[in-house]
Amino acid sequence: MKQIKIEGNNILSGSIKVSGAKNSAVALVPASILSDDIVTIDNVPNISDIDALNEILTYLGAKVKRKDSIIEINSNTIKNKEIKEDISKKLRASYYFMGALLGKYKKAVMFFPGGCSIGERPIDLHLKGFEALGATVKNEGNKYIVEAEELKGANIYLDIASVGATINIMLAAVKAEGKTIIDNAAKEPEIVNVATFLNNMGASITGAGTSTIKINGVKHLKGCFHEVIPDRIEAGTYIIMGALCGENLKIENIIPEHLDSVLLKLKEIGCNFKIHEDYIIVSKSDNYKRTNIKTLVYPGFPTDLQQPFTVLLTKCNGTSKVTETIWENRFMHVPYLNEMGANITIKNQTASILGPTNLIGKEVVATDLRAGAAMVIAGLIAQGTTTIQNVEHILRGYENIIEKLENVGAKISLIEI
Ligand code: EPU
Repeated sequence: MKQIKIEGNNILSGSIKVSGAKNSAVALVPASILSDDIVTIDNVPNISDIDALNEILTYLGAKVKRKDSIIEINSNTIKNKEIKEDISKKLRASYYFMGALLGKYKKAVMFFPGGCSIGERPIDLHLKGFEALGATVKNEGNKYIVEAEELKGANIYLDIASVGATINIMLAAVKAEGKTIIDNAAKEPEIVNVATFLNNMGASITGAGTSTIKINGVKHLKGCFHEVIPDRIEAGTYIIMGALCGENLKIENIIPEHLDSVLLKLKEIGCNFKIHEDYIIVSKSDNYKRTNIKTLVYPGFPTDLQQPFTVLLTKCNGTSKVTETIWENRFMHVPYLNEMGANITIKNQTASILGPTNLIGKEVVATDLRAGAAMVIAGLIAQGTTTIQNVEHILRGYENIIEKLENVGAKISLIEI
């Protein structure tokens, strides 16, 4: 078991380099098995979710080599077999093996995926998409057997613009016979990154990044070199830290447009930042205005930054409101923030944050990945020592978070207990 200890109330200055996007990389790695040749992916974050996916690849018989941020995957040696429950359940993104194995071998057998407990997280839209392409889905308890004699392109409408379902259906459809159209597709940059990867391998996908994605099935996919886009959620997390305790803190290797909704909210509260081509400089202020936030699908305000942003709102003057519309259980950080001195009440899916309040270091828990990031931010601005338990959640999604923060002046350490 590991915990993070933070001595709060220090200024952060210097530079933090953002890593490759977790939610892109976790799809690219399973997607690589669709290729008939070796695939090389650069800028892959060194996080435990990627380790878990590599474990599945290796279990299936693929050869995986990793050197720094580059992963080389040779899946010619794969034997398609049931992905056992213990490894299926290690993370959410194991579900991308369903689409990828179905697309390549016309059969996938695996268990319901794991991931943060931030809501019910059904996969019905993924399965409906596979069925529309001609697959049958059998469900035995937590086990799913998805198979098809052949996959045929289809018109698919998603009831919800789901990130996972959009990507999974793309993975299953790239080698299907004929044309697939996904309507009400999710538009997140990670989807564009995955579509570009598949196109680099020889797929024919247009419209990724819009709500209609068109896929013309191809017979073979070849090897390619591809780069993971910068992690907009990691970037946003560090920018929020800069807004609270930065002094010309530089957040580099970012695509500012991916952060438009977040930067607009920062501007609205009066945050002091300057956007450059691929970096942002941000400094703290002691006089922030209140605001309201509603989480929405991209390009709306990202649910994955809602919890970190709530910490910033504890420093704004007046009552700010945060409405979570994507996940029904994403306020688990709030009781801990209140214990630290925040004044937050929750009614239905809206949190009201009365600020400004001063936070005091406490023993808290990372209940999920982004709640964990919120606890780190709270610890950095709190008076005294904050100890965070269950930090495995944080390490699933933030590469080298301790080193990155230590380098800019935070007093933070990872302790084995
Ligand atoms: N939904 C369904 N049925 C489905 C799929 C989704 O009802 O078959 C619902 C979900 O319950 C949720 C909404 O649709 O209410 C959106 O879910 P989505 O499928 O878009 O989420 P996801 O693909 O499971 C990804 C990220 C999440 C991020 C969401 C929303 C990955 C591995 N995870 O999840 O990231 O919050 O999109 O942007 O890409 C995180 O990084 O901390 C994280 C949780």
